[in-house]
Amino acid sequence: MSIQQLNFQAKTAISLFLLFVIVATISSIILLGLELSGEKKGINIPTIGQVQNKYTMPTLVAAMKGGMYEYVSDDADINTVNQWIKEGAKKEGELYGDAWKIIQQDCANCHSKSSKMSKAMPSISFETYEQVLTHTQAGYSWLKMSKQAHIHMFGITTFLILTGLMFAYTSYHPILRTGLILTSFGGAFLDIFSWWFSKFIPELVYLIFAMGGLMVSSILLMCLLILADIWKTRD
Ligand code: HEC
Repeated sequence: MSIQQLNFQAKTAISLFLLFVIVATISSIILLGLELSGEKKGINIPTIGQVQNKYTMPTLVAAMKGGMYEYVSDDADINTVNQWIKEGAKKEGELYGDAWKIIQQDCANCHSKSSKMSKAMPSISFETYEQVLTHTQAGYSWLKMSKQAHIHMFGITTFLILTGLMFAYTSYHPILRTGLILTSFGGAFLDIFSWWFSKFIPELVYLIFAMGGLMVSSILLMCLLILADIWKTRD
């Protein structure tokens, strides 16, 4: 059985499916780049530092350095908030006073239940000390992790198994076929696994970067190779 034996209609369906997978993969890279860099457009390959911010820093600080950077009035404010959290995020002292003022002035106009801003975010509210405190944890909370992990793993395996099965029936060398199938699944698994633990072991941030890259490149490569294989004219 070879994928080349499929009829024209099946090949067309497969090709369209693969084009969707390619566009979706590129979209996810664009989305990640925008979220991490705080930029508004273009393809921004995040730096290790930005990935590190997202997965190992307190959520509040990571947001101020990333997606919420445009609302920060002064770069020094990020350090103030970071320092306050580092010293225990206590509800007393000068640092608390400064950090509280920054959060209220720069953030709480959108981040409050009663916000009238068009881009308000009332579900993440910074009106009370207790609400702010829930965003001072380093990296992803277990809640956010498990939410992201199950959505990603269910979603990714669905198209990985389809792409992998198609690739399995191409005419490429068996080692290439086995290798790419293993790296796509392995990369996805280790990528998600390393988000989870980079909060405890900061070095795992490099693994997120490497495995994310491995997953994305093996998916794109499989798609392109399948397309080339099914439309190859046989002599
Ligand atoms: C103009 C309104 C607005 C202002 C001002 C604002 N935010 Fe946000 N914030 C949003 C919206 C909308 C979202 C959800 C969508 C998104 O992530 O862009 C959000 C999401 C967040 C999140 C969760 C997502 C993430 O990036 O991790 C955090 C944390 C956050 N904001 C913190 C802050 C902090 C800290 C400030 C102050 C420096 C701030 N925000 C200022 C509107 C605002």
